[in-house]
Amino acid sequence: MTGDHYFSAEPGTAARPREVEFTVAGRDYALTSAGGVFSADRLDPGTAVLLRKADLPAPDAAGNLLDLGCGFGPIACVLAGSAPAATVWAVDVNERARALTAANAARVGAADRVRVAAPDDVPDDVTFDQLWSNPPIRIGKDGLHELLLRWLPRLAPDGVAWLVVARHLGGDSLHRWLAERGWQVRRHASQKGYRVLRVTR
Ligand SMILES: C[S@@+](CC[C@H](N)C(=O)[O-])C[C@H]1O[C@@H](n2cnc3c(N)ncnc32)[C@H](O)[C@@H]1O
Repeated sequence: MTGDHYFSAEPGTAARPREVEFTVAGRDYALTSAGGVFSADRLDPGTAVLLRKADLPAPDAAGNLLDLGCGFGPIACVLAGSAPAATVWAVDVNERARALTAANAARVGAADRVRVAAPDDVPDDVTFDQLWSNPPIRIGKDGLHELLLRWLPRLAPDGVAWLVVARHLGGDSLHRWLAERGWQVRRHASQKGYRVLRVTR
């Protein structure tokens, strides 16, 4: 990618659609991905650890779930598949990622329950029972902190956030940083060099 990042608003890279298949909690997913989005060719290993280790929403979970930085939508689609009564907000700055997530939500039969939005287009009064994210570490520490300080406060009082961060990309320092700001942070799991953090108020 020349001057292009997975978090570009409008990727210049050729789209070249491709298929990404994976299984979570016994359910098979076949989603469409494309160039110019994060981990375009496979389910990212960190995302795979998150979806394997964190507590997926119960089948009767209702309310709003957030996939922060949705990419082509694997987390959003798994949340929608796991919790058919919930509304899933899928947020990303990358417009190609948003288009792919919307198409993938339709592929998994959840177009009516997955709200795909640019960050500024999520109404201010929406709060989230769960926030899920494989956050964009590559935007830099300041950007990452700003992102989390923007969205974590929108958790419902008894809401829970699930984050996955590679240890070598700062998973443990992010854990400390969140705890220093008063969040309850637990290292829920650690696998293949990834930390799965459970964050509550
Ligand atoms: C590590 S990727 C994860 C993508 C996807 N959830 C997955 O697991 O494959 C992080 C995503 O965050 C997005 N992102 C970057 N900055 C953002 C911001 N300020 N607000 C929302 N999303 C952002 C990127 O475009 C990218 O798609």
